Amino acid sequence: MIVIPGPASIELGENIAKIMGVESFPVEHRIFPDGESYTRLTGSFGGELVVIVQSTPSPQDARLIQLFQMTATAKELGAERIICCVPYLAYSRQDKRFIDGEAISLDIVLHLLKSLGADDLIVVDAHNEESLRRSHIIKTWNLSAIPLLAKYIRELGFDGAYSLGPDEGALHLAKSADEFLKGGFSFFEKRRDRKTGNIEMKVKDVDVNGRDAIVFDDIVSSGGTMVQAIAGLKQLGARRVVAACTHAFFIGEAEKRIIEAGADLIVATDTIKTKFSRVSVAPVIAQQLAKII
Ligand code: R5P
Repeated sequence: MIVIPGPASIELGENIAKIMGVESFPVEHRIFPDGESYTRLTGSFGGELVVIVQSTPSPQDARLIQLFQMTATAKELGAERIICCVPYLAYSRQDKRFIDGEAISLDIVLHLLKSLGADDLIVVDAHNEESLRRSHIIKTWNLSAIPLLAKYIRELGFDGAYSLGPDEGALHLAKSADEFLKGGFSFFEKRRDRKTGNIEMKVKDVDVNGRDAIVFDDIVSSGGTMVQAIAGLKQLGARRVVAACTHAFFIGEAEKRIIEAGADLIVATDTIKTKFSRVSVAPVIAQQLAKII
């Protein structure tokens, strides 16, 4: 088995190779003056099991093209099996046609990966695991970073804190975190206007008065969801509040707005490398690779 750490995930890919005790081969990569991606694989691939590690945060389209280039090239150079590890899978949120005529972008990405030669796909905290499974396009393994985040937060002195999902779709995240924090869990109700993107949150009366609480979400993008969830918890009398997510985009003033809403701490993983990356997903990915190779 060999690992190719893609240009978006060099450190993560190298760490996975180190944990697995296998070689990793760097990718030569640059952007042409017109914005196109140049990608060259090094190493030899004949008959090999090749693991490509490439998260696809912003700029998503370029990151995806690089992933496609690496997958197709590894296949053409004789890879026996290709496992693509894409911790943050771009376009996961557009997993159905919410409004007539919309492209189902997630399916398009999966079809492209499959047709270029990927055999398996490993993702972390996919926006909607069900939509990946339902599509049957490519064999997919959805791992969760929530236990790692919850354990990390517990060790900071938050044992017994309340776990909250900012919407029903994140309830399973809060439930999984509660296995470690053990302070109870629930969710608020969120409605997003599909045209404007604005959200409305209905704060439920959860038991956080005078207690610590953690909001767990898969993604923080503009920060709007996190801001409203934290403000709701503060309104209910929560003491310290932590904003925790797997994929930290933090677009624009998201960080400032989250702190102003009352967050004492922001914690995320390295699926997207930021200053909030306190927890690495390398061990869970390596563990999964060991199971499926
Ligand atoms: C959506 O349902 C996701 O789970 C996140 O809550 C959402 O993508 C976060 O986006 P934003 O930070 O822009 O509110």
